[in-house]
Amino acid sequence: ADSLLIDNYQRRFQYLRLSLTELCNFRCQYCLPEGYATNGHHKFLSLKEIDHLVKTFSDLGVRKIRLTGGEPTLRRDFTDILSLISQNKSIVEIALTTNGSRLLKHIPEWKKAGLTSLNVSIDSFVPHIFQMITGENKLQHIIDGIDKSLSIGMNKVKVNTVLMKGINDNLTPFLNWIKYYPIELRFIELMETGEGSEHFRKYHCSGSAMEQQLIEQGWQLLPSKPLAGPAKVYHHDDFMGKIGLIMPYSKNFCNNCNRLRVSSMGKLHYCLFGDSAVDLRDLLQHESQSNLLKQRILTTLKIKPPTHYLHQHQTGINNNLASIGG
Ligand code: GTP
Ligand code: 5AD
Ligand code: SF4
Repeated sequence: ADSLLIDNYQRRFQYLRLSLTELCNFRCQYCLPEGYATNGHHKFLSLKEIDHLVKTFSDLGVRKIRLTGGEPTLRRDFTDILSLISQNKSIVEIALTTNGSRLLKHIPEWKKAGLTSLNVSIDSFVPHIFQMITGENKLQHIIDGIDKSLSIGMNKVKVNTVLMKGINDNLTPFLNWIKYYPIELRFIELMETGEGSEHFRKYHCSGSAMEQQLIEQGWQLLPSKPLAGPAKVYHHDDFMGKIGLIMPYSKNFCNNCNRLRVSSMGKLHYCLFGDSAVDLRDLLQHESQSNLLKQRILTTLKIKPPTHYLHQHQTGINNNLASIGG
């Protein structure tokens, strides 16, 4: 069946980003520079609530689920969540966005439980810069985790790099890396968040500056696949890997929006930015509530805005991207 999830701007949503936790073990400068207090009394969605949520969204046409956070793999029931989702035959892709800290040890187990694709953050290939940005000296460990993933046949692996002026905006080390790695590396334009305004003003590196550098390095910037979601993807004959650009401040960025978001507390967000969200949690308590839940989701979709308002310097009140899953 086709997706019932279409908004007023003819955008189709077969892709759900589900945040599993706000907690994280890293302290990325642009996200959680102070880290997260782990004594919070958060009660994130339970396995049972996730089960009801996934069933209802898949009935409405969702085919891909990306697990996000915070760091989703910090949940002790993470593998159980994968197994649960992979029992649902309508879900054809189960993806994970991770900082990579638990990859090396757990990727075989996650793959067995049904994980199909993986996005790993690496903000620098220079160990001390990596540590300065994330607060952790784990670059080599994470690269080893990616190698392990490739070696056991995970073939949909992407790497995320948030570029920051004067810190990691020299593209050469990244390009050297994808020369021999069959991986899509995505340069992400820093986004302004509530807590991160000052950081943003200091380090924001524009999308057009990213494009300019690539052109200088001999990339033609002819899209290598039709737009599916916000990233534009390019290839180069001399490189095994590809480059993706995620430029949220660029014109018409939101026209290709193909995803919905549910936070770890069970709120359906209209957009990554802006604080508007609808609580679904009271309808995740019993299977018999599925029809009511569907109604609420469809009603919410009718008021999804056509675009974010970052251009107008409205950051919304989002403190950081970890709170709603990026
Ligand atoms: P796939 O297309 O499934 O690979 O997803 P993705 O590349 O969007 O996922 P990922 O979790 O790796 O996110 C990469 C970056 O894109 C993060 O910085 C996200 O916050 C950002 N991003 C993802 N979706 C959106 C969106 O709808 N709007 C904006 N502004 N940024 C987004
Ligand atoms: N701007 C851009 N990307 C961000 N991420 C987290 N915070 C920001 C921000 N303010 C990225 C992380 C990770 C992805 C899930 O979101 O680097 O790759
Ligand atoms: Fe953690 Fe990801 Fe935020 Fe870094 S960007 S602090 S890894 S949630």
